[in-house]
This record gives sequence, structure tokens and C-alpha cells, in this order.
Amino acid sequence: MNNKEILSCRQLSRSFEDGENRVEVLRAVDFALKTEEKVAIVGASGSGKSTLLHLMGGLDSPTEGVVEIAGTDLASLSENRRSELRNQTLGFVYQFHHLLPEFTALENVSLPLLIGRNRSQSLSRTAVEVAAVEILQRVGLGHRLHHKPAALSGGERQRAAVARALIGKPAVLLADEPTGNLDRESAQQVYELMLKLNSEVGTALILVTHDLDLAQQMDRRVVLIDGVLSEA
Ligand SMILES: Nc1ncnc2c1ncn2[C@@H]1O[C@H](COP(=O)(O)OP(=O)(O)O)[C@@H](O)[C@H]1O
Ligand SMILES: [Mg+2]
Repeated sequence: MNNKEILSCRQLSRSFEDGENRVEVLRAVDFALKTEEKVAIVGASGSGKSTLLHLMGGLDSPTEGVVEIAGTDLASLSENRRSELRNQTLGFVYQFHHLLPEFTALENVSLPLLIGRNRSQSLSRTAVEVAAVEILQRVGLGHRLHHKPAALSGGERQRAAVARALIGKPAVLLADEPTGNLDRESAQQVYELMLKLNSEVGTALILVTHDLDLAQQMDRRVVLIDGVLSEA
């Protein structure tokens, strides 16, 4: 791990107006993630974990404060440049796999590179397919390339979602309770995969989890309590 910051939040606040009420979900959150670092975010349901991950990923904008990715303030970018930075730098895995049902595992995993290709035109279709097959093999789905999500088990779908998130070799993987819906054994496989790719690809990892054993395997743990973040 080197000491460069890849993602940071300064004095980040997010509140929602709900009729007459103003709900303060995050309060002055400071956080910094170093290149290749692995951090767990823990906290009770409703404490603001998903809201924080959305802000870190540029999917939502803070009420106050700054998110920087690779030294760039997300708020300084146009919507287009922000989604470009997101595509180039971040991978996302959610509790639900969000694979497209009409497409095979291979097609689902290829999509991020095909979309990126429209911008850069640097990768041939064949090169995209080779990369997708390779990462599907690495997540143990080399024998499921042409299956659609409905024909995969829960653990297989989630491993395909991890492959899709990592095919672009993102600097940071944001994972929001990625194994919340899996049995213990499938969950363990998905975690081991994320840790393996972290060490092989050098992807930093922010993992929201209820699993304290898993949180212990990260470099560091932070806890959100009523929207206030502190080291755990
Ligand atoms: N778009 C929204 N509008 C209003 N309230 C929201 C919105 N998104 C989240 N919240 C509220 O913010 C709080 C934290 O939600 P969330 O970040 O999803 O928590 P967690 O992921 O820790 O369970 C909850 O009380 C939730 O109702
Ligand atoms: Mg959540």
C-alpha cells in the first residue's frame, strides 16, 4: 500500500427535506482512503451507510462538503466528466446483483468496457470479450459464460456482479452489503474473491458490512452512528 489518497471526503453533510421535516442523514463526515487500502464501514440500519457510498461514488450530491477522487473535486465536474471519472475509477457492487436479465454473464460483464469503448475507441470487440472471459474465469464462472442471470445461483450472480465491477480495473471498489442475500458459504467466496482482486489488481476497497469477522479482515474499520463517522 502506498500513502497516496485515492478518495477523500471533507466535512460531508447530507440532509433530505421530507415535507416539513429536515432529516440530517450525514453530519460533517471526514474520511480518507489510500491507494489499495481496505476499509470496512459498519453501523446500524438507517445510520447513513448507503447514503455515504452514493456520495463517494458521485451518484448523489452532498448538502455540504467535498468529495475528491484522485485529487478531483466531484462537484467541479460536469455531469459527463463526472460519469467518465466514475467509469474509469470506480466499481460498484450492491446487495442485489443488478445484472441485466436479457443478457448472458459474458455480455453483462463486457458492458462496462463496451460503454467505455465508445469514448476511447481503443479496445476492439475481441479484446473486450477476452477480458470478460478472463475475469469470469477468475471468479470461477468460466463454465457459465453464456448463462443468463436467471440460470445462475445467487452466489454466481453476485460473483458475476463483482466481475462486472472489476473488469475495468477500478482504483476503488465500493461495495454495499454485497453478500447480504447470500448463504454463508457463497458470501465467503465472494469476499475471498474481492480480497484476491484487491491484492492482484491493487483495487482499494470500501465495504459496508454487518459481518464483524469480515470487517476484521480489512485494514481499518469506521463506524457510522446517526450520520457521524468515527474510527471503530
Ligand atoms: N432519498 C431520501 N429521502 C429521504 N430520506 C432518505 C433518502 N435516502 C435515505 N434517507 C434516509 O436516510 C437514512 C439513512 O439511510 P441509508 O443511508 O440508506 O442507511 P443505511 O444504508 O445505513 O441503512 C434513513 O433514515 C433513510 O430513510
Ligand atoms: Mg444501506
